[in-house]
Order: sequence, then structure tokens, then C-alpha cells
Amino acid sequence: PKDVGILAIEITIPALYVDQEDLEKYDGVSAGKYTIGLGQRAMGICTDREDINSLCLTVVQKLLEKYHVDYSEIGRLEVGTETIIDKSKSVKSVLMQLFEPHGATDIEGIDTTNACFGGTAALFNAISWVESSAWNGKYALVVAADIAVYAKGAARPTGGAGAVAMLIGPNAPLVFDRGVRSIHMRHVYDFYKPDLSSEYPAVDSKLSIQCYLSALDKCYQTYCEKASKLYNRKIDLNFFDAVLFHTPYCKLVQKSLARLHLNDFYLVAKEERGLVYPNLKNFENVVLEDTYFDRDIEKAVLSNSKDQFVEKTSPSLLIASQVGNMYTSSLYGGLVSLLISKKASELAGKRVGLFSYGSGLASAFFSLTISANASEGSALHKMTSVLNSVETILNQRQKVEPEKFEKYMDIRQKSNHSAPYEPVGSTEHFFPGTYYLTNIDDKYRRYYERV
Ligand code: ACO
Repeated sequence: PKDVGILAIEITIPALYVDQEDLEKYDGVSAGKYTIGLGQRAMGICTDREDINSLCLTVVQKLLEKYHVDYSEIGRLEVGTETIIDKSKSVKSVLMQLFEPHGATDIEGIDTTNACFGGTAALFNAISWVESSAWNGKYALVVAADIAVYAKGAARPTGGAGAVAMLIGPNAPLVFDRGVRSIHMRHVYDFYKPDLSSEYPAVDSKLSIQCYLSALDKCYQTYCEKASKLYNRKIDLNFFDAVLFHTPYCKLVQKSLARLHLNDFYLVAKEERGLVYPNLKNFENVVLEDTYFDRDIEKAVLSNSKDQFVEKTSPSLLIASQVGNMYTSSLYGGLVSLLISKKASELAGKRVGLFSYGSGLASAFFSLTISANASEGSALHKMTSVLNSVETILNQRQKVEPEKFEKYMDIRQKSNHSAPYEPVGSTEHFFPGTYYLTNIDDKYRRYYERV
């Protein structure tokens, strides 16, 4: 099959949020720490009415409805998540309650987990399936979803929640570039969830940032090597019209784009570095591994790559800055943000680089090319018009005071894994079409309804 890629994309974000400026005051930290220091505006939050199943039910059902896809047209459905509520039963199997009543049960795929990378792994599996002998001509549906919550402390403002569903098949408007994908995987304890009774991760903050940046270096270098051979040209940031990143918080992404700029500088022969990048002349002898927390280099590359950041990356940060880290769905929320930031005609023909990172660690750099056809009636045009509603939804969310947010977190913490359980959270704020948890019975079975 030709032009395998994303035919449709849909996103779900929580209807409630806490304002990061309010949170700064409530937490008693200095003004600007979360808004400027982390680059975050707001954080999407879930009460005990929502869990990983409800988020996924919502996003899948909405995609199928908005794009008029029949249940029988899906041949593979796979979920990437690190929000584990059952050690055996997959979220995919829960989603089958949407398909089963329509006689659609011949559907491959199951859940995939490794921190924020599971969604990308699911996506790669879906692409492989479409390109394989097992493919039956139907679509694959990839779901990336998470509820990101941290224990009280410095990491708490970097939470968030969300779900993205992507319909994968041939002749797509967003086509994955073949033969250039690069992978970097290692064994590290930077962020992990060893306590199965808690929703919260164990985080080594500094190490997690270092691992993220070093994985970015490695993946980008391998990508550039592969792409330069394949396309027979020099590959640097100029090759991409947009570069999207997994986004734990927006400030890290600005630093990451700057990091790629530093890599471009590094990939130039040593004696030419100062000529090509006069502002970075002082850093000609740089050793990348020594620079993850080097303030001087960081400042210089941030300033030197500012225009590139504004042009290639900043448009992809709308949802991340308003909702926070959506873990597996974060990178794909970036893609949605990019798609709503421009007209279809402005997106046509553009190349997008994507960096996916999951602690532990698993990471990848890959790219896609947007179809040149943005005419009315084209798949690209339809995709951007369907996504028009995202900005409205962002604006229609309800703000919650930090006190209330803390209360919701306490309830989630106390009720985690309890059965039987009747959720206490209100259902009034939900957007139409949202699934929510009605109850958990004494056998831990979960039941949902739709607004
Ligand atoms: N005004 C402006 N900036 C400020 C202010 C202020 N008043 N106060 C602090 N800052 C800046 C700091 O200078 C710092 O900037 P820098 O990153 O350029 O050094 C930034 O705000 C963060 O402040 P710190 O004190 O360095 O860090 P903090 O203790 O708040 O922790 C962290 C931040 C590490 C991101 C924490 O929230 C965390 O652990 N999050 C979860 C882990 C994470 O997201 N890791 C990233 C990759 S792994 C993943 O995806 C989960």
C-alpha cells in the first residue's frame, strides 16, 4: 500500500482545568515559576468520574462519528498508555464494547506500555500491520491516552490528561516518511511506576531531563544520517517545516529545539563551525554529552534558534501549554495543535519531524509529509475543519480553584483501586459525547455512561 499515514485524528481533553498562575500562588512558589519557568498556562484535570477507559471510549467513539467510519471498517485497534488500572485486562478489550454490538470483533491489536512512548509504539505497530501480509484492507485505529498525575511537590504542576485517536491506512493526507525512522532505547530509572497501588510515578527529575535530551541527540543524529543517505542531501533543521516533541512542559521543548540547533552546529566540520554559526564560535570544541545543563551554551543556542522555534515548533504547543503533559498523547496533541494553527493550504506539502520520548527509556525521531492537496473536499481539508472545534473546547473548559483540584487529587488517591466504588465527582461539566464512570461493582467491574 502507498502513502501509509494518518487519515483522521481526534483529541479529547478534560473539561476541567487549573490555572498555573493560581497554582503558583496556592503552592507558595515565586510568581512565574510554572508559567515562565515551565512555560505552562493551565493543566487539564480529571475527577474520579474519569479513568483511562472513559477517555479512550470518548476519543474512539468521537473519531468514528465525526469521520463517519463504520465499526466494521476497523481491522486493528491498539492502545498506548501508561495509566494502568488492571494488570491483565487491556483497555483495548474495554473498547470492544463499542464494536461488539455491531458484530465487529475481527480486530487485531492490544495495549502497549512504556511511559510516554506507548502511543508511538502502537502507531509503529499499526503502520507495520498496514504494510504487512496480515493486512486485510481495513483501517488501523491507534489510541494514545493518559492521566498524568504527580505526588505533591515540584512535579505536580507538570501533570495533565488527554487522549488522541488516529486512523491509519493508505493514501493518507499525513504520510509517514519511510526508511528514516530512528530509535534509541536504554535501561535507566529516570521516571517509573514501581508502586502498583499508586497512580504516582517515582521521578528522578534531573536524570529524566538529561535522559530526554540525550535521547533527542541520539535519535536526531541517526535520523539525519539515514535521511541524508536516502535523500542525498544535508539534513538539518532547514529540512523540516515543523518539529514536534513529546512535551512534559513547554519550556523543555523550547530547549529541545535549541538542542537540535546545537546538534546542527556540532554536525558541521569542526573548522567550519564558527563560520557557519558565528554566534556560537566560542563553543567550537563542544562535547555534547557535557552540555545538558551548561547554562552558557543553553543561553546561546536558545537565542540563536529563537526564530526557528517560533516558526517550526511554537505552533505545536497550544494544547500542551493549556492542558499539560498528556504522556503518550502529548506528541500527538502537538500534531493536532499544528494542524489547527494553520489553514490546510498553508500545511500542504510540509514536512514535519517528530520526537517521541518515554522514560525508562524508549525514544524515536521520525517524520511525515503533509499531502500537497489541500483543496476543498480533500482529506487534509476535512481533517483541519473537523479539528476547528478544538479551540472552542479549550475555551469552554471550566476553571477549578487549586483547593478543589487538591481535593479531587485526594479523592483519586484514596479511591484508587477500591471496590465497590461510587464516584462522587459531578457529571455536569462534561462536554457532550463524553463517557464517564458510573460505578465499580464489588467484583471490580467498571461501568460507563455517555453524556
Ligand atoms: N520565574 C521564572 N522562572 C523561574 C522562576 C520564576 N519565578 N522560578 C523558577 N524558575 C525556573 C527555573 O530557573 C528553572 O528553569 P530552567 O529549567 O531553565 O533551569 C525552571 O523554572 C524549573 O524550576 P526548577 O527549580 O529547576 O525545577 P523544579 O524543582 O520546579 O522541577 C521539573 C521542575 C524537574 C520539571 C519537575 O516539575 C518534574 O520533575 N517534572 C516531572 C518530570 C519531567 O517532566 N521530566 C521531563 C522528561 S520525562 C517525562 O516526560 C515525564
